[in-house]
Amino acid sequence: MELRQIGTSQLQSTPIVFGAWAIGGWMWGGTDDEQAIEGINAAIDAGINAIDTAPVYGFGHSEHVVGEAIRGRRDEVLVYTKCGLRWNHEDGQHHYDTTDPEGKPVTIRRDLTRDSILWECEQSLERLGIDSIDLYQCHWPDNTTPLRETMAALTELLDQGMIRAIGVSNFTPEMIEECLAYGPVHSSQPKFSLLSRENYDGVISWCHDHDIASIVYSPLEQGLLTGKITPGYEFAEGDQRNERPWFTEDNVRRVNAVIDEVLRPIAQAHDATVAQITLAWTIAAPPITCALAGARNADQARENAAAMQIELSDEDFETIRDAFWAIEGP
Ligand SMILES: NC(=O)c1ccc[n+]([C@@H]2O[C@H](COP(=O)([O-])OP(=O)(O)OC[C@H]3O[C@@H](n4cnc5c(N)ncnc54)[C@H](OP(=O)(O)O)[C@@H]3O)[C@@H](O)[C@H]2O)c1
Repeated sequence: MELRQIGTSQLQSTPIVFGAWAIGGWMWGGTDDEQAIEGINAAIDAGINAIDTAPVYGFGHSEHVVGEAIRGRRDEVLVYTKCGLRWNHEDGQHHYDTTDPEGKPVTIRRDLTRDSILWECEQSLERLGIDSIDLYQCHWPDNTTPLRETMAALTELLDQGMIRAIGVSNFTPEMIEECLAYGPVHSSQPKFSLLSRENYDGVISWCHDHDIASIVYSPLEQGLLTGKITPGYEFAEGDQRNERPWFTEDNVRRVNAVIDEVLRPIAQAHDATVAQITLAWTIAAPPITCALAGARNADQARENAAAMQIELSDEDFETIRDAFWAIEGP
């Protein structure tokens, strides 16, 4: 299986990484732990060597499930998690008001102080049941904490062997450049899909020029780019897609027209699915290192992993790019 270098770190990742947000349940209308564990195992069996999670995904639940799934096969998989989004204290920058997994109001805060990072790292190691985190990523920038302090805490963890590489997520090139003055940054995790291209010529290409891996999130546009979402499709209560602009009937119709015209024929020619062609395109895009494909069960995990076997021709790659680049945002 082809492996890709995570910046200047020692890590080598498969181009598709298992995304473990939805299996936390929270903001995704619930989850089935048994199916999630089967999904993670199916992904590893299918050759995927990395999983991305975060403490805030289900308020610890996703990390617990990942820990349970990889028990006994830790050496087959890299574990990527994050710090800096807190649901359980009052400090830091306001991120957003929402409801917790029990439906009670809660404020999520960004906190990248040294104390918070060291505490969160211990909590994550315990929930995951591991001795060291392979890639530890700042989830969102916290404008109440100097980046010098954040990077000092992360390099301390690196020196102690608690983490093996440092990443950031949702950071601008300017922020990453400042971080680099204080220590190494091995990866960046921005949003990217064929429909959400705002970071492509920005932080993604900047990182490519600076030897920093781009591990992109929501490449399937949360399921829309699988072609399975039709106008009127109903998500469970509490699923954040009920509120997302791409999922209005008009937008779903508009996107599906391009999927039908462009992605489906290419998928048929490759004996593949629309989701697989979307992922194959994403990991073939030159400045992108890895795509975090979220999955809830073994079928999705296997389907997404098999996208690593697909090689698109230059013509297919350009046809898809031109068709999607022409779609206006929601
Ligand atoms: N750093 C950040 O701020 C940030 C933000 C978002 C995500 N992430 C990371 O990126 C990962 C991926 O992003 P994402 O989960 O938002 O979106 P995504 O990967 O674009 O979509 C995942 C969802 O699409 C559906 N799906 C996946 N594979 C499918 C298949 N083969 N066939 C049909 N449906 C399929 C599943 O939901 P249903 O079955 O319910 O339709 C799944 O939960 C996350 O798990 C997380 O690790 C990071």
